[in-house]
Amino acid sequence: MATVLILGVSSGFGAAAARAFARAGYDVAGVHLDRRGTQPQVDAVRADIEAAGRQAWFFNQNAADDEGRARIVAELRERCGEGGVAALLHSLAFGSLAPFVGERAATRKQLEMTLDVMGSSLVYWAQDLVAAGLLGQGGRIWAMTSSGSHMVWPGYGPVSAAKAVLEAACRQLAVELAPRGITTNAILAGVTDTPALRKIPGADELVKKALARNPGGRLTTPEDVADALVLLAQPGARWINGNVLRIDGGEDIAG
Ligand SMILES: NC(=O)c1ccc[n+]([C@@H]2O[C@H](COP(=O)([O-])OP(=O)(O)OC[C@H]3O[C@@H](n4cnc5c(N)ncnc54)[C@H](O)[C@@H]3O)[C@@H](O)[C@H]2O)c1
Repeated sequence: MATVLILGVSSGFGAAAARAFARAGYDVAGVHLDRRGTQPQVDAVRADIEAAGRQAWFFNQNAADDEGRARIVAELRERCGEGGVAALLHSLAFGSLAPFVGERAATRKQLEMTLDVMGSSLVYWAQDLVAAGLLGQGGRIWAMTSSGSHMVWPGYGPVSAAKAVLEAACRQLAVELAPRGITTNAILAGVTDTPALRKIPGADELVKKALARNPGGRLTTPEDVADALVLLAQPGARWINGNVLRIDGGEDIAG
């Protein structure tokens, strides 16, 4: 049975994708970073996967840690075997939300941590999954980007920079992995009410503007994106490669 690997499985898009893929017949391997307070939501995602009759292997682990990643990839190789990972979803929200200038300006450490977790970590996971033979012919890589990759929102500078890294990594991986039959696309979700959104300074204003702009008349939901990812996992999506795919009801292009 095919497995999807979700980085950021315990909340938001990652949790919705885990549930949608389990319902579609996939086992789910997931990486998340939670303390005791948010453990109930981890347990709830796991329970829903199991209720769908699928297996859940979760790792409470910093996805940007090299040794942790190596351990998880080795374990997945044991459990899933050659070509056993059908898709990798990078959906990590772990960034510094600070301006570039002023008293509270982002430090080098904060900026580099944000770029690493929310940007370059995609490359290391892709490298290791391909090297281990887990991701192969028909494989999919998706990484969550946002309108903040090409717009300025207060305090979003470090995350916006990480989205530029992420989108560049997706383009490069799309071309380098195409000969292996693996496609890579960045997924641009509309503004979605998740814990990560609520941490952005002025989140209420972002929500208000998105509601006014979105031609669908509502915010994007994690399920909107999860359902689209299940479609993109179908064999018929094999030639969709190297895009920034908007899954936002038309929000980003609306005036
Ligand atoms: N919410 C939005 O409006 C929106 C819109 C577009 C794109 N995005 C992007 O989607 C992605 C997911 O966001 P979300 O809104 O679902 O966030 P969320 O806060 O609901 O979920 C984040 C997940 O990442 C995990 N995580 C965070 N840091 C980690 C780390 N170092 N190692 C392992 N796991 C870690 C958390 O445990 C959690 O499972 C982010 O990249 C975000 O920028 C969000």
